[in-house]
Amino acid sequence: MSEEQGRLPFAESHPDPAEGWVLLAQRTEIPENEGLARKIGDTELALFREGEHVRCLQDFCPHRGAGISDGRVVDGQVICPWHGWKYALENGHCSTLPGSASAICYETRLIGEAVWARLVRTNPDA
Ligand code: FES
Repeated sequence: MSEEQGRLPFAESHPDPAEGWVLLAQRTEIPENEGLARKIGDTELALFREGEHVRCLQDFCPHRGAGISDGRVVDGQVICPWHGWKYALENGHCSTLPGSASAICYETRLIGEAVWARLVRTNPDA
């Protein structure tokens, strides 16, 4: 086997910045049951921990535009700090007023303790 064959392709071992992945934080920087604000370019993001998962949502509440990174997390949902609407971290769905606009969710990867995300929506139809 050549040296080249013995290596994992970059994309399998590590998110590729050429594909838009950005290292945003270490998992432990995200407080339990709270958010952590970050940015990719001009897009404001809110990172959350949910058990062993890390979620990345746009830091924007569809109701009136509050930053949801200031919200609390209860039972897998972030509660907006302004009027208390709830959004599921997994898919952005609003449980306060079902059928209303969802929070935007982005692709996120946890590699070891490193939190990566890119501006590709995981809920484009929401
Ligand atoms: S701005 Fe978030 S619930 Fe109103």
